[in-house]
Amino acid sequence: MKKFSANDVESKSLDLALENLKKLHALFPTAVTETSNGMAVDLEEIKRLTGAATSEGSETYGLNWRGKSACKLAAQIPSSGTLRPAQDQSVNWDNTQNLLIQGDNLEVLKLLQRSYAGKVKAIYIDPPYNTGRNLLYPNDFQDGIKTYQAVTGQTEGGIKMVSNPESSGRFHTNWLTMIYPRLRLARELLAKDGVLIVTIDDNEQTTLGTILKEVFGEGSYEHVCVPVIHNPRGVQGNNFSYVHEYAFFVYPANTRSIAYRKIEAEEIDWSPLRNWGTESERTDAKNCFYPVMVKDGVIIGFGDVSDDNFHPKKQAELIDGVYHVYPIDIKGVERKWRYARQSVEEIHKLLRAKQSGDRIEIEIGKDFALFKTIWNDTRYDANEYGTQIVRSLVPDSPFTFPKSLWAVYDALYAATANDPNAIVMDFFAGSGTTAHAVMELNKTIGGNRRFILVQIPEPIDEKEETKFKTIFEVTQARITAAGKEIAQDPKSKGLDLGFRCLKLDSSNLREWDPATSDVQSSMLQNINNIKDGRTESDILFELMAKVGIDLSASIEVKKAGAHSIYCVSNGKMFACLSAKISKNDIDPIAKEITQWHARLKRDGDTLILFRDSGFDDDIAKTNITAILNQNGLTNIRSV
Ligand SMILES: C[S@@+](CC[C@H](N)C(=O)[O-])C[C@H]1O[C@@H](n2cnc3c(N)ncnc32)[C@H](O)[C@@H]1O
Repeated sequence: MKKFSANDVESKSLDLALENLKKLHALFPTAVTETSNGMAVDLEEIKRLTGAATSEGSETYGLNWRGKSACKLAAQIPSSGTLRPAQDQSVNWDNTQNLLIQGDNLEVLKLLQRSYAGKVKAIYIDPPYNTGRNLLYPNDFQDGIKTYQAVTGQTEGGIKMVSNPESSGRFHTNWLTMIYPRLRLARELLAKDGVLIVTIDDNEQTTLGTILKEVFGEGSYEHVCVPVIHNPRGVQGNNFSYVHEYAFFVYPANTRSIAYRKIEAEEIDWSPLRNWGTESERTDAKNCFYPVMVKDGVIIGFGDVSDDNFHPKKQAELIDGVYHVYPIDIKGVERKWRYARQSVEEIHKLLRAKQSGDRIEIEIGKDFALFKTIWNDTRYDANEYGTQIVRSLVPDSPFTFPKSLWAVYDALYAATANDPNAIVMDFFAGSGTTAHAVMELNKTIGGNRRFILVQIPEPIDEKEETKFKTIFEVTQARITAAGKEIAQDPKSKGLDLGFRCLKLDSSNLREWDPATSDVQSSMLQNINNIKDGRTESDILFELMAKVGIDLSASIEVKKAGAHSIYCVSNGKMFACLSAKISKNDIDPIAKEITQWHARLKRDGDTLILFRDSGFDDDIAKTNITAILNQNGLTNIRSV
């Protein structure tokens, strides 16, 4: 029974540097060699393989700032934190697939890698704009969890989120240092066909555009920057009144990643199905001359292509109560339909018949179109459809500048309309507009899209007259209220309107530090390597994240005597995390697990987990391992 301990590589979040080395190795096996310190890159071999020159010194194209290299490393330093379940702060814990996570997003993004790398279809983020007033998170890249605990008042000598005034001398640097590692981690989470949407204003639009192109290479990704009119009344500058901000859309190049937008019936542009102008006559394409069948004003089908020597007497001939309509123009010239007989059925739904005297005109109108590169719909007004909506759901919300629900809705529609099971993520959640938009989208166009939101418990100024102490509490309240409101709508039947709440904290596992001055107590503590006050559920979630199980997976519990047996994700993992398993408990625990496992008739591998210090002695451990092995369960670990 191999043990997970806090110092193991696999106990930390995914090591992205190692993952990158593996990817390089898969592409160019000879470019990665082995050294006494593990895998290493053979730069000379890469030069030989690519025939390319290496860049010299600092004179390379790109955006540089002091600390950029540290930022790159920061994304790769594994997190030593965990996500602790907060069932009592969740809605519909057992059945929801949505997650609301409290924490600093840099740490959380690292902790989500094993479970969600390559699985997220859309990431929508609205980071703090660099306005000089917004607060920035003071990352300490070496010990992210300690900084987080200090910022959230969990340790003495707290640190605060800081404003970043333009006069600081590090105005752009601080902001870039904040956003860059988060974008690198976001890229790892995105699915191959995933779409990233980042909103921004003029302060960092150019810098953001440049680093997006660096992180999401221009050859492999398409980058579109869409101005969004979010404040039609305007913010008065010295010379201009600002009415817009931007939304960058980044998605794989040469794909159809952005869905068509829907056009309302009254806005459809109708045009004749009959061709006109050059090459529009019957003789130009014979299989485009056939009757369209119209009954009681409705198109009911299409006749066969007419014989060459058949010439209808009228444009619309009534035969047995059905009009046969031909592409004959007002002057009696036989023309052709725009669609050949073999393809017209596909566009049947886009056609309509219009009576005009004794003629019937057949028209085509598309109820969909490409999204445009400027978004100026009145529904994007952030005051009317952002602030007002949040206030109506959470009356004493002190949250300023939420996005218009419909701007986020349309962005997510563009990214996920064709993927009803998409995972949508927002790691600068604010008032939770993204979660609201996902639920609205499922209600309106159907589907089971899921959301994962991350929000730091940024303290709310004590001067604000509100019951909320942190922005995270506002996020939670808004999503809960939005879910309740949507539940009133009959169309919401069966929708997932809940969320599992998880909170960032230090790992449940104690770190074994033999260098400590008090070796004896360090050894004793290491025997019980689970920190005081941590529950079985805490450990379970840490393990789920470490082995890469979806954190919204099903968790069923059964009892074997006094011990709880957890079955996670329909048998991907079984766990018994009791602090005391005596030798008499071994048989009933092993029996419950093996029988449960057999009932599930699983194809895939199953991991069985125990608490290492829970066993009376090594014999108990060996015995339970032997029983499980005999029943075909061989992947057994302890923590
Ligand atoms: C501009 S707001 C997002 C507003 C959101 N789109 C809405 O419609 O309500 C940015 C949010 O990111 C949060 N934030 C800032 N730094 C963060 C960090 N390091 N981790 C998680 N959240 C953070 C802020 O507290 C703020 O709520």
